[in-house]
Amino acid sequence: MKILGIESSCDDSSASVVENGRKVLSSVIKSQSTIHNLTGGVVPEVAAREHLSNMIPAIDEALKLANLSMKDIDAIAITQGPGLVSSLIVGTETANVISFVEDKLLIPVHHIHGHIYANFLEVEDEIRFPALILTVSGGHNELILMRDHFDFTLLGQSRDDAGGEAFDKVARILGLGYPGGPKISEASQKGNPDAFKFPKARLEKGSLDFSFSGLKTAVLNQFTEEVKRENISDEASVPEKLKNDIAASFQKAINEALSEKLMLALANYPDVKEVHLAGGVSANENLREMIRLQMPQNVVFRFPKSLEYCTDNASMIAAAGYFRFQKNPSEFKAKTNIVPSSDFGF
Ligand code: KG4
Ligand code: ZN
Repeated sequence: MKILGIESSCDDSSASVVENGRKVLSSVIKSQSTIHNLTGGVVPEVAAREHLSNMIPAIDEALKLANLSMKDIDAIAITQGPGLVSSLIVGTETANVISFVEDKLLIPVHHIHGHIYANFLEVEDEIRFPALILTVSGGHNELILMRDHFDFTLLGQSRDDAGGEAFDKVARILGLGYPGGPKISEASQKGNPDAFKFPKARLEKGSLDFSFSGLKTAVLNQFTEEVKRENISDEASVPEKLKNDIAASFQKAINEALSEKLMLALANYPDVKEVHLAGGVSANENLREMIRLQMPQNVVFRFPKSLEYCTDNASMIAAAGYFRFQKNPSEFKAKTNIVPSSDFGF
């Protein structure tokens, strides 16, 4: 079954063709990060206008790269939410129109389900359940127990900022640009992770929720204090060493918080066979390594096979759409009018 995936929940316009939920036949991602770098974050109206220019060319390119035409496509999987509504509308309406004109099945996909299924892309061995999933993105941060395909239990989530959002905000404090995750990761390689000791959130004992707003405030306070102490008058004069040390100390603190919660959840569910890291922050090498070092030998640890499957992409949406369809094919029809929504099916 060949599925055309479409993703436009935030600032990447993406289209892919994926066969049987695993084999990526083509993947096109039109990033808007250069534009949003100018404002230090995503301005929803700007993102929506960019999607309007990029979406049809992305779909056209995805079909051409896969050497297919629309008649070869069995269904369209589309991100229904959560995300920026003005961005989502471009994707859902594009999918609605194609379905209407070409009589294609439409499969709405929850964005977080998409990130979960990013770990199925290009994987040839069997994925065994139950799997414990840590999703860390710009807009969401969850611990999920997956007992089977589309059988999810939410174990914990962020009570304030998502992990990726914290990376982005700290990068903005340090003047490193957008998106912050890769910039922090790069700066951290030149910094000392023990230069500053940042606090961990104190939630009730045993809680599998996350909280990063205190960490973000501690970074801001530390940076302001250092800038004052060293009499730094403007952003351009902030020493590289200070930025790198704060970035590395922050990265260590947030990754320790994420991996500690993951290990706590794993201890609570000893029958878990696999642990999956997903979402934009799964691209972070330091986090992967920290988790890998703590993983028991009998548990398989996976993260997306390619960096482009970590951040938002349409291949993961096509994969999630495939497995959702397989679970209950009669649920899906052509010519249904999908509208953006955040509260369905999780
Ligand atoms: O999954 P994603 O593309 O979008 C959402 O669903 O939100 O995640 C984007 C987030 C951003 O916050 C970005 O800074 C972060 O993922 N990110 C990273 C890295 N690459 C992207 N964070 C840490 N290290 C990275 N290498
Ligand atoms: Zn995402």
